[in-house]
Formats: sequence, structure tokens, C-alpha cells
Amino acid sequence: MTERPYVIDQMISAKAIAARVESLAREISTHFAGTEKLVVVGLLRGSFVFIADLVREIDLPIEVDFLEVSSYGNATESSREVRVLKDLRGEIAGRDVLLVEDIVDTGYTLTHVLKLLGTRAPARIEACALLNKPSRREVPVEASWVGFTIPDEFVVGYGIDYAQRNRNLPYIGKVRFL
Ligand code: IMP
Ligand code: MG
Repeated sequence: MTERPYVIDQMISAKAIAARVESLAREISTHFAGTEKLVVVGLLRGSFVFIADLVREIDLPIEVDFLEVSSYGNATESSREVRVLKDLRGEIAGRDVLLVEDIVDTGYTLTHVLKLLGTRAPARIEACALLNKPSRREVPVEASWVGFTIPDEFVVGYGIDYAQRNRNLPYIGKVRFL
């Protein structure tokens, strides 16, 4: 795949992200107060920066685990299933689970992962997404907590990539093709 030249315009500053992550963590801590041990599941790879910042602001006993699923690539819409590339290390039966996702776009990934983890009989399962693009939704699903609702733009940074690049930007930027 040849990449078209592009520039990145800052959309959400590192400072704004940090403030929002802190308030999300406060809401999550209140919601799960009294939990024996919350399993915070990061969806690889896009959530790795977000989950690192989020867990450090959560004031509860937690365990961290990771799940990696394939994106559906160019599969037809009706067959947009996700495949598990790397499964959780731990059991979640009877446990409270917080799924951490970078972006909810069409909604297929979140729908399938919630369904998959739901079959393992967690006590409670909720999702937190850093970004939400509601105008792109093809299946009705919402995260319980959303950092920022954004328009239909392709974004990078803070863990999120374009062709595996730009994950290390400390802010969220939108890709503008030249
Ligand atoms: P969904 O299944 O369409 O909701 O896709 C969610 C996944 O698509 C996210 O976890 C991202 O990995 C990817 N994605 C969606 N929008 C963007 C974007 O603007 N930049 C980079 N990746 C994106
Ligand atoms: Mg992703």
C-alpha cells in the first residue's frame, strides 16, 4: 500500500486528554466502588496509551489484561466478525470487567468483543472508549464512558495509528491528506 502524503492537525491536546482521563477514571471508580477486583481489559493495540493513563487514575483494586482481535479488513458488511488474535490471560467469570477501547467507529468491534466476553459470565461488563464517532455507526452500540465525541475524521496519536504510524504522538490529531 502506498501512502498518500499527509499532515496531522492537532485536534485534542495532551492537556485536554489528561483532564478528561482523570474525570473518566473518577466516574469509573465511583461506578465500580466496592468491587473485589476490577479486570481492566485493553483492546490491543490502539488502547495501550489510554489504558496506561486511565488505570493510574482508577482508585480501586484492579487487574490488567489484554485482548487483541483482528479487524475485519475488507470483509463484506454482513460478515464483519472479529477473530481473536491474542486472548485474555485470566478468567473473567464472576468478575467485574471494564473493556478499554480507543475508538468506537462503525461499532462492529465493540459489539463482537462485548458479545464474546459476555459468554464468559462476567458479573458486570462495561466499556470505556477514548473516542466516539457516532456518525459512522453501523450497529447500535455505545460505550458506557466516552472521552470525546468527534466528527467523521481519521485521527491518530495517543496510541492510535495510521498504517502503524503516529501512535507515539502525545495528542490526538486528524490526518489531512495533501
Ligand atoms: P469499529 O469496529 O468500526 O467500531 O472500529 C473500531 C476500530 O477501528 C478502532 O478500534 C480503531 O482501531 C479503528 N479506527 C476507527 N477509526 C479510526 C481512526 O480515525 N483512526 C485510526 N483507527 C481508527
Ligand atoms: Mg482498535
